[in-house]
Amino acid sequence: MTTTQLQHAHIDWNEQGQPLSAEFADVYFSKQSGLDESRYVFIQHNQLTERFQQLDNSTPFVVAETGFGTGLNFLACWQHFLQQAPEHARLHFISVEKHPLHAADLQLALTLWPELEPLSAQLLQQYLIIQPGYQHFIFQQGRVCLTLLIGEASEQLSQLDAQVDAWFLDGFAPSKNPDMWSDALFSQLARLAKPQTTLATFTSAGFVRRGLQAAGFSMQRHPGFGHKREMLSGVFSGSHTASWAAPWFARPTQPSNPEKHAVIIGAGISGCASAYSLAIRGWRVTLIERNPHIAQEASGNPQGVLYLKLSAHQTNLTQLILAGFGFSRRLLTHWSENPHFDCCGLLQLAYNAKEQQRQPQLAAAFNPEFLRPLTAPQASELAGVPLAMGALFYPESGWIQPAELCRLLIEHENIKLLTKQQVTHLNYQHQQWHIQGEHGCIAQAPIVIIANANAAKDFSQTASLPIKPIHGQVTSVPATQASRALKTVLSAEGYIAPQHENQHCLGASFDFQRTDTQLSSLEQQGNLHLLHDISASLHQKLNAHNLNPEQLEGHAALRCTGPDHMPIVGPVADIQELKLRYSALGKDARAKLHAPCPWYPGLYVNTAHGSRGMITAPLAGEMLAAWINNETQVLPRTLLEACHPNRFAIKVLMRKKPYYEQVEGAV
Ligand SMILES: Cc1cc2nc3c(=O)[nH]c(=O)nc-3n(C[C@H](O)[C@H](O)[C@H](O)COP(=O)(O)OP(=O)(O)OC[C@H]3O[C@@H](n4cnc5c(N)ncnc54)[C@H](O)[C@@H]3O)c2cc1C
Ligand SMILES: C[S@@+](CC[C@H](N)C(=O)[O-])C[C@H]1O[C@@H](n2cnc3c(N)ncnc32)[C@H](O)[C@@H]1O
Repeated sequence: MTTTQLQHAHIDWNEQGQPLSAEFADVYFSKQSGLDESRYVFIQHNQLTERFQQLDNSTPFVVAETGFGTGLNFLACWQHFLQQAPEHARLHFISVEKHPLHAADLQLALTLWPELEPLSAQLLQQYLIIQPGYQHFIFQQGRVCLTLLIGEASEQLSQLDAQVDAWFLDGFAPSKNPDMWSDALFSQLARLAKPQTTLATFTSAGFVRRGLQAAGFSMQRHPGFGHKREMLSGVFSGSHTASWAAPWFARPTQPSNPEKHAVIIGAGISGCASAYSLAIRGWRVTLIERNPHIAQEASGNPQGVLYLKLSAHQTNLTQLILAGFGFSRRLLTHWSENPHFDCCGLLQLAYNAKEQQRQPQLAAAFNPEFLRPLTAPQASELAGVPLAMGALFYPESGWIQPAELCRLLIEHENIKLLTKQQVTHLNYQHQQWHIQGEHGCIAQAPIVIIANANAAKDFSQTASLPIKPIHGQVTSVPATQASRALKTVLSAEGYIAPQHENQHCLGASFDFQRTDTQLSSLEQQGNLHLLHDISASLHQKLNAHNLNPEQLEGHAALRCTGPDHMPIVGPVADIQELKLRYSALGKDARAKLHAPCPWYPGLYVNTAHGSRGMITAPLAGEMLAAWINNETQVLPRTLLEACHPNRFAIKVLMRKKPYYEQVEGAV
């Protein structure tokens, strides 16, 4: 199935400068006063003033909305939250949107509300990569976050793992948009509700009221806003019919009343991102690293590119890359002046027949703001250097210095870094993990995240993970006057980034045999060949034919890869026990087994980010924190399962054969 291109909203503007939907022939908000209507219908009739005032600081208050539109309801809710909630309370706003506004339209629409400007400026700054699937945003050091579900409402919500406190049912009038106000949607609202979840909507349509009642909400009519006669509110009073869900992918119950302290092993991008996501949720984190400094191994390259190997089909990997790229890019906006990141765009060159065939398919599947095909002269002009072939241009991509991102992520008072400490094994006693090193216990905590890449295999609890190291090397090529003309990242078989600190990072080799991390001059030479294939002209500008590979600097490390190219992120189970408990799957792969999964209490893993850690590891940190802090998940369930550590053992049981098949080079 080919991805159908995302359809943005087509906006008509009326004489007062207000947005109207051309497709639905309806207004985005009340012509009288959209902001007052938002406050009256959604905030007042979900009793958010009282509920915000009563919040404690444990889990975020969850508001979910149908129809993000111009984000007015979100901004009004955010503003109200800041005015009413105690300082340590948190808000998670989820909104589903089938036709997102273009950034320029959003900006124009939000100029109507000057009093929301401090908040709308933050939204606009992060309103990037609004692509199909889940797109996650963090504002105000994590006090407020937003997850946009881009797609059809009931379909997207069916993938959500959340418990909603208050629903905002917006979306155009039922008469103009009957497809959205469906029983399928109402049953999702009920599935995601808990006792006393409230809802409010501007409409009083009879079929909406009856549909919500049938789904389990007790409904009430109220006078409508402005000229509207009536509106509706509701409270969930139904019960959930327990439908079967695979226990091996269920949320593990957290150790009872744990102190909010986690130990994380490994200070590469996976460990640092996990530490960040927990720290902004109020957790104390002890981050343990065996090297004297953070980000010395795979995350130690001088430049890492935000490279998107997409498919024109909505595969799990493509969905994950879209969500991860969006999240990483938005994270960078928190430090937009930092000279160690550059969102300069990336040109993916059409360097062979396969790529030439793939690129038009991608161009048809995504919109031109996200990626667009260019001829060789157009690509050369953007790159600033002559290129012999056309390319796909990803304007939002670029490069980052991984160590700088790691440093910024752990710059938080809740995070304590312990370096030069090699963890040897983990023991669980008296509801605490004891993190053992050569000289005894390094730290203890009820929660542990194993984020030490390939070395996860050294711990008995994660030894069975099917991860493999793949050696790689990047070469630092001294910039020349002529090479400074390079303005974008260029990517073909290898990649090169614009100069940073007078060097260009050129990568990267793959060697499936080596497991050492010594620099090899042969691989330096190989990288220079890759450069020639990218651009003979740039090769010349860098005097690459005169460079001595023996004297070039570089960085060699081991990628950590899994068999299906997805990272491994989630709670860890005792695999021997799991195989025994679910052995019936060997006879019947569809058996609906009920035995609880034998989780190791409070143990999680974040690894196998392959060649794309800059894109997947930051979002993985949010996934883990959502499990550990018992919060709304930031990815659809299918993707959580596709990244889950248990997937391998379960597949082995179901197929009754070893699962691991190494696919060389395809990471
Ligand atoms: C040559 C090369 C080029 C690459 N280019 C790119 C790119 O352009 N873009 C991109 O997105 N990705 C790229 N990658 C992949 C990316 O670098 C990785 O996916 C990412 O860095 C993995 O991060 P990590 O934190 O999981 O692992 P690492 O960065 O390896 O971190 C693991 C950490 O755990 C520590 N550790 C291990 N065992 C222990 C222990 N027992 N006790 C204490 N500490 C321990 C290690 O010292 C290390 O610091 C590249 C990788 C390589 C090798
Ligand atoms: C009235 S507007 C929402 C206004 C918005 N809440 C705000 O604060 O600006 C309705 C929105 O619902 C979206 N929508 C309509 N049908 C949908 C569907 N089936 N699934 C998801 N979103 C839908 C529209 O694209 C539109 O952006």
